[in-house]
Amino acid sequence: MSKIIVATATPAATKRWQEVMQAALPQFEVVAWEPGIAPSGARYAVVWSPPDTVFQQETKLEAVFNLGAGVDAILALPSLPDIPVYRLEDAGMAPQMAEYVIHGLATLSRGFDAYVQRQREASWSPLAATRYEDWPVGVMGLGKLGSYVAKAVAALGYPVAGWARSARNEEGIEVFHGADQFAAFLSRTRVLVNLLPLTPETQGIINQDLLLKLLPDAVIINIARGAHVVDDDLLAALDSGRVQAAILDVFNQEPLPASHRYWSHPSVKITPHVAAVTLEAEAAQQISERIQRLERGESVSGLVRRETGY
Ligand code: NAP
Ligand code: GLV
Repeated sequence: MSKIIVATATPAATKRWQEVMQAALPQFEVVAWEPGIAPSGARYAVVWSPPDTVFQQETKLEAVFNLGAGVDAILALPSLPDIPVYRLEDAGMAPQMAEYVIHGLATLSRGFDAYVQRQREASWSPLAATRYEDWPVGVMGLGKLGSYVAKAVAALGYPVAGWARSARNEEGIEVFHGADQFAAFLSRTRVLVNLLPLTPETQGIINQDLLLKLLPDAVIINIARGAHVVDDDLLAALDSGRVQAAILDVFNQEPLPASHRYWSHPSVKITPHVAAVTLEAEAAQQISERIQRLERGESVSGLVRRETGY
């Protein structure tokens, strides 16, 4: 019987995904990787932040399936073989991302935070109506997640633009592309949502230079990767009031160290890398369908391009 090896960052998660994948693909033997285990000879690997050792010992692999959308961690492993790597495409993450962004945006634009304070004071005092045109949103990255988020926010009436590498039309979204149009995208954006993949080109993209180009009273919503942000530059912009708030789900170091200034900064809201979590049923279905297609010699989407890093 052909084998699939499952490897994640923790034994508990590995065991759980082994059970889920075994139920989805009963025609395979699904093996849970653990330190010291003998090479399984598996043909497929299903992984999330696996140790490099997995790829040193599993030399019969034909394809790797990433249990997430972002592939920066797996592409950084020195022993990753030169075989196809597939990533999750949406798999239920896009609506979670839209919900996260709309929650963060509306908390500020509708003044919901202010009402929390007013409730404490038993104060019945409505704010003026939100003028959506005062909150132009810019989404960096118009892929599976970014394009969904952009459309969801635009449907509420906010002016929305997106920025990607390549040109395209997205109904209701003003699309900018490439390095040449980046400054124009930033200069019309007040609420910047980051949904770029982490690549050599995008690392550190949220830096002083970018922050100075945004509209005044800017808001940063980073739900992609921590290494997109130069933390000292963002903190300086928050301290000066140039950026009014940062809603951060991902960090240069995770878990975010208890001593980090973000935790206590009055203008920062933190969530622990949960903006969109991998959903078991949706992920297992997407990966198992792809493995079955490969077995039939059919094409499969979600292939990572090594040359671009996403
Ligand atoms: P995707 O479908 O690959 O989309 C990536 C988008 O970024 C594409 O529109 C691409 O442009 C654009 N892009 C890439 N490099 C660029 C560059 N140098 N300049 C301008 N645009 C560039 O990715 P996705 O599935 O939407 O996921 C996006 C990221 O979300 C993941 O990589 C991951 O880091 C993050 N994520 C975070 C969480 C969380 O819980 N916080 C959960 C899931 C995913 P083109 O369309 O022109 O190629
Ligand atoms: C989570 O961060 C993912 O990339 O799916």
